[in-house]
Amino acid sequence: MRPENDPSLDAAYALKTPQDSKRLYAEWADTYDREFAASSDYILHHHVAHRFAGAGGIGPVLDVGAGTGLLAEALAPLISAEIDGTDISPEMLQRARVKGLYRHLFTGDLTRTLPVQNGTYAGITSSGTFTNGHVGPDAFDELLRITAPDGLIVLSINAQHFSDAGFAKKIDSIQAQITDLSLQEVLIYGTAATGDHKDDTALIACFRKA
Ligand SMILES: C[S@@+](CC[C@H](N)C(=O)[O-])C[C@H]1O[C@@H](n2cnc3c(N)ncnc32)[C@H](O)[C@@H]1O
Repeated sequence: MRPENDPSLDAAYALKTPQDSKRLYAEWADTYDREFAASSDYILHHHVAHRFAGAGGIGPVLDVGAGTGLLAEALAPLISAEIDGTDISPEMLQRARVKGLYRHLFTGDLTRTLPVQNGTYAGITSSGTFTNGHVGPDAFDELLRITAPDGLIVLSINAQHFSDAGFAKKIDSIQAQITDLSLQEVLIYGTAATGDHKDDTALIACFRKA
């Protein structure tokens, strides 16, 4: 494995392009749940799932940057809905597939056009994908395109990335296309977390397509 593909949170935060993500997550897929999520007490997907369910989210839902399917694992016990998932990494999606929680899983790059018709989804969810080195605010346009009118969008945005990548400006620019916006700051990791990132936070952005 080349050093730049050695899976770790710091390597993930240092990614620069979607192709970098494909390479890193191809290497990380097999160990992501155990060696990252479980050992770092990653809880962000639970925050997103509870916010989506609490705001009355319904299906069909598309989980964007679905990875190994942790968000569907958190969401499925909370709501009865068909959940689809997309991710740039086929290896991550293969880990999600074996969990049997998603209706459809397909590869897609959130920085480009997704293979989805306009207004398809009543809900969009995402955890951990709007973060340093990954996906920026411009993807909001594509998410709004594929969301049905009044559809609910709930996604986590790493707090540092929110500032660095200009999410506030993007949200301002789409105000006329959305309603019921809330931004809630949460911890990404639970009480068992250790290390430099243990106190990192994310904003849970929750809004509806007008
Ligand atoms: C930190 S993981 C989060 C996975 C999962 N949602 C979770 O909470 O565990 C980030 C995911 O974003 C995906 N990703 C990165 N860039 C992407 C892009 N441009 N389009 C789609 N997915 C992307 C990666 O392949 C990876 O599965």
